[in-house]
Amino acid sequence: MAKVTFVDAGGASRTINIPVGWSLMEGAVQHDVAGILAECGGGCACATCHVFVAPAWADRLPPQTPAENDLLECTAVTRTAYSRLSCQIPISDALDGLVVTLPERQT
Ligand code: FES
Repeated sequence: MAKVTFVDAGGASRTINIPVGWSLMEGAVQHDVAGILAECGGGCACATCHVFVAPAWADRLPPQTPAENDLLECTAVTRTAYSRLSCQIPISDALDGLVVTLPERQT
């Protein structure tokens, strides 16, 4: 289980526990975190699960695949150096304490 904090575009935060082995997106959806649409259900095909990873965590995540990198060009809010697709981030114990910020919109 890893505690993950989601900060919305207005600055409000919410911390949830996500089981190891789930994706960050699955944890958000199962806990009704507003702002993660995940329209493709985790297939790396929609870019509506976009998050900005807190800089301190960016290097601690698994690297992007070429498919994730390509799809990040299609996000509703322009990507930054800290953009990731939450469906492509598997939760592990090493991510306990992860903080991500949600974009203003996903579509
Ligand atoms: S849920 Fe569609 S790309 Fe992540």
